[in-house]
This record gives sequence, C-alpha cells and structure tokens, in this order.
Amino acid sequence: LPASKAMPKEMFPIVDKPAIQYIIEEAVASGINDIIIVTGRGKRAIEDHFDKCLELNHVLKEKEKNELIGELERIENLADIHYIRQKESLGLGHAILCAKKHIGNEPFAVMLGDDLVLSKKPCLKCLIDIFKLHNKSVIAVSELPTEQLHKYGIISYQNINNGLFIKDIIEKPRTKDAPSNLAILGRYVLKPEIFDILEKIPYGKGKELQLTDGLKILSDKDGMIAH
Ligand code: G1P
Repeated sequence: LPASKAMPKEMFPIVDKPAIQYIIEEAVASGINDIIIVTGRGKRAIEDHFDKCLELNHVLKEKEKNELIGELERIENLADIHYIRQKESLGLGHAILCAKKHIGNEPFAVMLGDDLVLSKKPCLKCLIDIFKLHNKSVIAVSELPTEQLHKYGIISYQNINNGLFIKDIIEKPRTKDAPSNLAILGRYVLKPEIFDILEKIPYGKGKELQLTDGLKILSDKDGMIAH
C-alpha cells in the first residue's frame, strides 16, 4: 500500500508486463497448461488481462500494429485459465481449498502471485522434476538475510543424498526462533493429501488457514523435500 489500493498487486508491471503474466509463463514453461487463479474482490483486472479485448484488437488492426496483435493473441492463448473467487481473505490454505474440486486427486502446483523467480530452468519445472524422481511433495526455498526471516515460512532440514529433507516448518518465526536461513518462496508441488489435512486443521496464525500448518503435517506423514 498505497500502490495496491486500487490495483491488484499481481498486476504491478515488471518492465513491460504484469507480475502475474511471469507466473503464468513460468507454469506454461514447466509443462502446466491447466491453471486456476484464485482471485477475490477487486481483482477483475487479472481476468481482463488474459481475456480478448475486441475493441483494442480493432484499434490495433486499423493502425496495422500486427506485432502487438500477435503478442496479445499469445497472451490470450497461453493456457486454459479458470478463475475461482475466494470470498473472504481466510489465508493461503483456504485459497488452495477453493481449488480442491477442480484439482481432484492429483498432485498439483501452487504458485504465489507475489513471488517472481528469475532462473534459466523455470523454478516450478525444477520442483516437478524432483517430485517425479522421489514421489514426494517439494517446496522451493531461498536463503535470506536474518532480518527478513520473520516474514516467511522457515524450514529446518536434514541433508540426505544431496537433497534437503524437511524436518520442521515454522510460519513467520521471531528472528531468534528461526531454525535456518531457508525461507519458503511461493512455489510448491503438493500431493492431493494436503486437501484432507487443510480441511481438518484449525485456523492458525492471523486467524487464517495456514498452508504452512498443513505442510508440516504432510511432511511428517509422507516426507517433503526442499529445493
Ligand atoms: C506465504 C506463506 C509463507 C511463505 C510466503 C512466500 O506468506 O505463508 O510461508 O514464505 O508466502 O512469499 P504471505 O507472504 O502470503 O504472508
């Protein structure tokens, strides 16, 4: 705030396109083309961005701006995008539960609209490859300076065969309680068992249904890898 007062933060431009477009492009480059965007009130601009705009198309045609028309068509056809409205801000865990019916009993990826990852191989593709190799849920983490750890989910881990196996996850710990300097950044590949867990656990920090609380249970039951 105040930048996000009237405009969804997912629509903030980074150079020449909105943040959410980078995320969708990362998903597509990782082999995912069935995408649900969980939105809420005041986020209509996201749907409009991936929709056709006939008026704009018409104007661009008249001005013979063919390159721009092509780019807009590419964006409109990036993936099958579905929208679900989360009616109240009840947390990330709740947002994910909103998509349960659509996802069914399959592993799925979660990407947070406010984390952008710059990498040659898409971050999500790395997680999917690890998931396929080990058949374990995988989350992306990033090393952060101590003074930033209180804003994130922080993991403690054990090094096994060059992989990081998660031992514990603490959501937004006090600096002195942070178990490592590895913070969860918004990319996860999860088994569908997370849905049952999220439906059973109580609301946590900030009176929100915390994905992190569910991840901790899933990781204790089935194991979980950090990348
Ligand atoms: C969420 C998660 C947190 C994670 C972060 C990454 O927090 O709860 O574990 O580290 O995203 O951006 P939020 O930023 O939504 O408060």
